[in-house]
Amino acid sequence: VLITGASRGIGLACAEQCIARDVHVTGVARSFSQLEQKVERTFEQISCDLGDVAQLAKALASFPESVGALVLNAGYGQFGGLEQFSHQQIQRLIDTNLVSNLVLLKHYLPLMKRQGGGDIVLIGSESGLQGAKAGAVYCASKFAIRGLAQSLRADCSTSNIRVHLINPGPVDTGFFDELNFTPQDGQEFVLNPVDVATVVMQALEQPRHVVSDEINLQPMKRSFRKR
Ligand SMILES: NC(=O)c1ccc[n+]([C@@H]2O[C@H](COP(=O)([O-])OP(=O)(O)OC[C@H]3O[C@@H](n4cnc5c(N)ncnc54)[C@H](OP(=O)(O)O)[C@@H]3O)[C@@H](O)[C@H]2O)c1
Repeated sequence: VLITGASRGIGLACAEQCIARDVHVTGVARSFSQLEQKVERTFEQISCDLGDVAQLAKALASFPESVGALVLNAGYGQFGGLEQFSHQQIQRLIDTNLVSNLVLLKHYLPLMKRQGGGDIVLIGSESGLQGAKAGAVYCASKFAIRGLAQSLRADCSTSNIRVHLINPGPVDTGFFDELNFTPQDGQEFVLNPVDVATVVMQALEQPRHVVSDEINLQPMKRSFRKR
């Protein structure tokens, strides 16, 4: 399984659940330097800035030749009015959250077809289902992921490639570290990365004819506070 954004949060939880099942994991992120102390068993790591499409295109030569599943999870949130974003900030967010996935899929789809099938899990968001104040750029990236999943599913169903889309609500990860809002304190206001990873594993472990078309996950209660 190749997992993007595997150094922290949801991606790391997915990596840990794969490793617990003795599945070989290749993780992609910019840096794994803070990981060593945290995980019991490590995994193959590729350092690559997915927000830099030229760097990703070059790095593909060092990616595994074949993968059974892709978990396309890397991404980040940046919120605010569209006019407050520089062109560079717009480009970086869209490249990281969307274009890197397109580039990876373009690379791996022919390989998956040649090997007779595979699985693609896209980590979308509730922001891919409903636009919200200050969410123009982030929501645009996540709505696009949903369109990508639906189209790819139609294209790939005859190739034994399943496309699963998971849309989490708020998850307790580093996602909120740089944001000016965060879920209220308390377990009922937030999912944890293991909750999401468990659903990813369930999607992968369903019988081959079952596709997790779209799974929306939410904590029991919703409330945010400003920092
Ligand atoms: N947390 C939430 O509330 C929430 C809700 C819905 C959807 N999501 C989605 O879930 C996904 C994972 O987020 P998370 O909550 O697990 O956040 P996180 O803890 O901040 O983890 C983000 C991961 O993505 C990687 N990443 C970010 N920018 C990258 C880049 N330019 N190149 C390579 N890797 C990059 C990070 O690694 P490096 O920093 O080392 O590069 C890290 O491994 C994202 O797509 C996010 O949009 C999150």
